[in-house]
Amino acid sequence: MTTTAPTEHPSMRLRELVFGAACAAAVRAAARLGVADVLGETPASAEELAAAVGVEPRALTRLLRALSCYGIFTEDEEGRFGHTEMSRLLREDTPNSMRYIALWCTEPWTWQAWPCLDDAVRSGRSVFKDLYGKEFFEYLHDEASDSARVFNLAMTHSSRQSAQDFARATDLSGASTVVDIGGGQGHVLAELLEKYPRLEGTLLELPGVVRNADPRLREGGELSARARLVAGDCRSAVPVKADAYIIKNVLEWDDDSTRRTLRNVVEAAPPGARVLVVENLVDDSPSMRFTTAMDLMLLLNVGGAKHSTGSMTSLMTEAGLEITEIRPVNAYLHVFDSRVAG
Ligand SMILES: C[S@@+](CC[C@H](N)C(=O)[O-])C[C@H]1O[C@@H](n2cnc3c(N)ncnc32)[C@H](O)[C@@H]1O
Repeated sequence: MTTTAPTEHPSMRLRELVFGAACAAAVRAAARLGVADVLGETPASAEELAAAVGVEPRALTRLLRALSCYGIFTEDEEGRFGHTEMSRLLREDTPNSMRYIALWCTEPWTWQAWPCLDDAVRSGRSVFKDLYGKEFFEYLHDEASDSARVFNLAMTHSSRQSAQDFARATDLSGASTVVDIGGGQGHVLAELLEKYPRLEGTLLELPGVVRNADPRLREGGELSARARLVAGDCRSAVPVKADAYIIKNVLEWDDDSTRRTLRNVVEAAPPGARVLVVENLVDDSPSMRFTTAMDLMLLLNVGGAKHSTGSMTSLMTEAGLEITEIRPVNAYLHVFDSRVAG
């Protein structure tokens, strides 16, 4: 049986770490081949699995053995492969599937960008334009439609899951109106409107995103009578007055954009309005390896950053917000609960 025990010896551990790309590539390959989707509840041989996904059996054995070393699939004495909790997350049909997150984190552009990390650290800036001649999102939409599709699916999956966690953990019983700024397809807003039957809400998003809002919020949807969809750029203006403002996983770009957005919120909001900023933190997370890796990826692609408790607190305070509480939403997100001063 393949061992999954971590290697303790420093030189061997370092050897393993510098081969991290092999692990990421193996996860990507398994996700693209759909191996987890064809494996049922009983272990199967590589030949059976290879026939099911149409690949070469010996190469598939090597792939699955490599993944078993990380606890993704198991290999038994007879050389049959079975599921683990992690391999099940690669299935498309599993609740909380991470298939599209796995693909998103290993998209082709990432393999071009990671080797330029030392350049990004030297300059403190994104390397994307030097590599592709365009800003990241412009490139995705103009030239990498497959990656753009994977991005949208990954965001939809992770946003649905975290929206439920956020709605469960957030008490908005004192509010009549709420706005979700950069709320993606509006999963958070939809969850909150379902939780509070008298609450009215606005989704403020870029025009291309607002068009694809959650069907529950769109015309004819079951929440549409209490939902307003506003296309706009929160860095230019936040043209909505509400009792509560939510900004979740948006302020990860450059600090100037964050300052402008928070200033626009404070200008639009009535005194005492609640502002809830939700972020992954690089200094307070049970998953520091994940958060710091995302932080480096943001440096490479958009020149952005994940925040620390201190950096988020100081940007919010500078904008005129009084932080009342910082608390976890789930295993990887924190909410900065604040009020507009005065
Ligand atoms: C990482 S996603 C987070 C989406 C959602 N808040 C969530 O947590 O699932 C960042 C979102 O910010 C939106 N966004 C980016 N720039 C924006 C801007 N200038 N004005 C409004 N929304 C913006 C993007 O379209 C995207 O949906």
